[in-house]
Amino acid sequence: MEKVTALAKRRGFIFPGSEIYGGLANTYDFGPLGVELKNNVKRFWWKRFVHNRPEIYGLDGGIILNPAVWKASGHIESFVDPLVECKKCHHRFRADQLEGADKCPDCGGELTAPKMFHGMFKTFIGATEDEASQAYLRPETAQNIFVNFSNIIDTFSPQMPFGIAQIGKAFRNEITTGQFIFRTLEFEQMEIEYFIRPEGWEKVFESWQDEMMAWATTCGIKKEKLKFREHSDKEISHYSKKTVDLEYEFPGGFKEIYGLAYRGDYDLINHSKHSGHELSYRDPKTQEKFTPHVVEPSFGVERTLLPMLLDSYAEEGERVILKLKPQMAPYKVAVFPLLANKEDLVKKAKEIYEGLKPKFYTAWDERGNIGKRYFSQDEIGTPFCVTIDFDTLKDSAVTVRNRDTTKQERVSVDKLSDYLENEIEK
Ligand code: GAP
Repeated sequence: MEKVTALAKRRGFIFPGSEIYGGLANTYDFGPLGVELKNNVKRFWWKRFVHNRPEIYGLDGGIILNPAVWKASGHIESFVDPLVECKKCHHRFRADQLEGADKCPDCGGELTAPKMFHGMFKTFIGATEDEASQAYLRPETAQNIFVNFSNIIDTFSPQMPFGIAQIGKAFRNEITTGQFIFRTLEFEQMEIEYFIRPEGWEKVFESWQDEMMAWATTCGIKKEKLKFREHSDKEISHYSKKTVDLEYEFPGGFKEIYGLAYRGDYDLINHSKHSGHELSYRDPKTQEKFTPHVVEPSFGVERTLLPMLLDSYAEEGERVILKLKPQMAPYKVAVFPLLANKEDLVKKAKEIYEGLKPKFYTAWDERGNIGKRYFSQDEIGTPFCVTIDFDTLKDSAVTVRNRDTTKQERVSVDKLSDYLENEIEK
């Protein structure tokens, strides 16, 4: 974990938030390569679960919703944790995570009795800061989906079963610190509410379990480090009838990366009651009217990135390599002129770089020697490096070097784009 954290900072993937002001606990900023990795994950997820699934509709809802939404969803009442505070060092801990310890884990000081603490961030709308103008930053993207349920029905007339998917920021006032991007104050969720007939939810639930596992391994997360764990009655969320977490074996042990919940009709019924707007479905053939039930697969973007980085990190001799899946890698290809001071080599290399750029996110490097440039690209996961040498000027072919095998191949310039596309898609 330390090596990955250091690499992420050194090579422009992930920076501590507000660093020049001493940082801000549990916040991180994504640098030029981090944002690429994140965008690739989100794009692939969208393609897989929205574009390739005609029964799933996309949505991009707001971060601030009418506060009544959170009352109806049960978050105002139930999105709370019991906290204890150390009387000496004033550090706060979640009482349920202290595993029975009655002294401060940091300094051994005496702990206060547990007090309930709210996980939602509050803000105010308008000029006055009173209760009437209080609003919240959403702690999950799911609620945008429920409140738009009838908009999707009215505009797209979906057949059962159907889903609504959303990718977006969520905010939680987390107090456990020091877990890198695993637990942050703001993070991105990729969520689907999958609406089904009330009967037979178990099969749908199982199929989403398979989908979640398949997605995680597609991202390059190792299957042997993944397992499902069902929530006990004590930990299950207020809205869920059954929850299974997909857990990944981090260096400190197994921890949740994704959650799958059977929310039943909890949300649609509660929003119907609180809003006065009936959220039901009418079968277009039989005219039967009912409240659909919901199976909810919820994926964290940062909790996808972290296992991807951990599982792709490798050291081979002096090389540090991020063996990211080529489709996920920030740069797909790097282009080098063999020598930076030979004008005709640089000119040809620039031409090739310009030709690849519209299709692949392409890096340009002319610093140092070729060996150093390879090392530098390996460390950020660039799957292919293309070198333009003196032979290129004669035979119009380049050397393509593969990150994982270090094997080099001569490829003619006119076939280069197709060659790379095939290799990246493999
Ligand atoms: N709508 C259901 C829901 O929000 P959750 O298990 O509380 O369920 C879903 O959160 C996912 O969101 C988690 O599996 C995780 O990937 C991500 N997540 C939750 N809290 C997070 C945090 N503080 N930092 C980063 N990711 C988080």
